[in-house]
Amino acid sequence: MARTPFVCGNWKLHKTVAESLDLATAIKNSVAPIRDVEVAVAPVFTALHAVGKRLEGSTVALAAQDCFWEDQGAWTGEVSVRLLVDLGVKYVIVGHSERRQHFGETDASVNHKAQAILRHGLRPILCVGETLAEREAGETFGRIAAQLAAGLVGFSPEMLNETVLAYEPVWAIGTGKVATTQQAEEVHAFIRAQLRERWPTTADHVRIQYGGSVKPDNAAGLLSQPNIDGALVGGASLKSDDFLGIVKYRLSK
Ligand code: 13P
Repeated sequence: MARTPFVCGNWKLHKTVAESLDLATAIKNSVAPIRDVEVAVAPVFTALHAVGKRLEGSTVALAAQDCFWEDQGAWTGEVSVRLLVDLGVKYVIVGHSERRQHFGETDASVNHKAQAILRHGLRPILCVGETLAEREAGETFGRIAAQLAAGLVGFSPEMLNETVLAYEPVWAIGTGKVATTQQAEEVHAFIRAQLRERWPTTADHVRIQYGGSVKPDNAAGLLSQPNIDGALVGGASLKSDDFLGIVKYRLSK
């Protein structure tokens, strides 16, 4: 099953509008000749509009880091999927471990958000991953299975087909401790097997990104694994050269 690799930069809480525009311009120019890898960037909310304009007509897609499931109303501080559609956003990250850890994101809220994203014709990047304590207690697979089951409640095959999954072991995020290619592939294969049980005809089409300290020098090893279909990149997505090095991972193999 040929799945187009998908590399998305998650800029987290970094960069002003001007800094975001500089980075978006550099990425847009450098990845222009690349056709065999899909690329997206997820700037802070306040830079989405400007970055979206800058990326118009380019091959780089616009992604948001979060959303709210109601379209409008008395929800102070929230940003709805409807507003993201307005800005030309294509992908929305949901269930990132930083939102689960620090902002009370639950599997149920992840599911509400993913459903709203799909209802509006956008694509969720749904993150799952175990903590270090869970890994050490031998609970990795149970944790991932639970996150998938609850996060994907009510999904039809068509909905799953529009969804990207991201496996981000919490202990590997921002720590420089990358999962070994075997550790990552083992979980990715498990995720696909879980999907296959519920959506046998769709599971092989779904892209599963790896996230957690992906750098230009480890991207090739990770992305050449059979069930790793791309990367969700934090720190290394903030410098265009590093990000490009990951997007061009095939050249460093
Ligand atoms: P780092 O690449 O900085 O470890 O972050 C990974 C991540 O959380 C991407 O969403």
